[in-house]
Amino acid sequence: AKGLPLSGKKVLITAGPTHEAIDPVRFLGNRSTGTMGFELAKKAANLGAKVVLVSGPTHLNTNHSSIQLIRVTSAQEMYEACHEHYADMDIAICAAAVADYRPKTIATEKVKKKEGDMNIALERTPDILMSLGEIKKNQFLVGFALETQKELENAKSKLKRKHLDGIVLNSLKDDGAGFGGTTNKITFIDKNSEIKTFDLKTKSEVASDIWEEIISRIHA
Ligand code: C5P
Repeated sequence: AKGLPLSGKKVLITAGPTHEAIDPVRFLGNRSTGTMGFELAKKAANLGAKVVLVSGPTHLNTNHSSIQLIRVTSAQEMYEACHEHYADMDIAICAAAVADYRPKTIATEKVKKKEGDMNIALERTPDILMSLGEIKKNQFLVGFALETQKELENAKSKLKRKHLDGIVLNSLKDDGAGFGGTTNKITFIDKNSEIKTFDLKTKSEVASDIWEEIISRIHA
């Protein structure tokens, strides 16, 4: 559709948690539902964009004709799917709650219980957002930050370190914000340290606010 603010734009969005396998039946995961990423994808499509939505395990679905949904399980798979599409993108938003660590080895058989304690050695997963920042050409790149202390300072340093154009700070101090729920309270910070704070809203409304911030900057 011509005349919409994101007509002709290609958008990559990551959503949901990742699951890092321990053995064939167990994994390390987190409570992300994917709602924020799916809402961002839906809004982008309605604003005229072609969207590639790379999602970790979630119960959500979408059948919007402008959204290509790629389902992945682990951080490594999410990394690979993102890099397969990134070069072609105009905008990328990393909204996924990617695991920071994964088991160093995946047991090929179900791990048996035995007497005493159990330890699992963990290693770092790739930082997808950081890796996209490092190879950025003209993409407008946006990340999320969920901070519990020195929120603005940490979000700003993340924006710089990962070569972002904007970062969405989820405030955890506010009831109803952040993970799992249906509402969120955000602050948007751009690379010029311009800061905008929003009220507590539904994630659908938050997605509209985020797109408004991005659109005003890509057309500037
Ligand atoms: O460094 P931190 O995990 O706080 O950064 C959060 C941002 O980085 C989010 O946008 C998240 O999607 C992204 N991220 C990622 N890959 C990771 C860890 C975080 O893309 N392994």
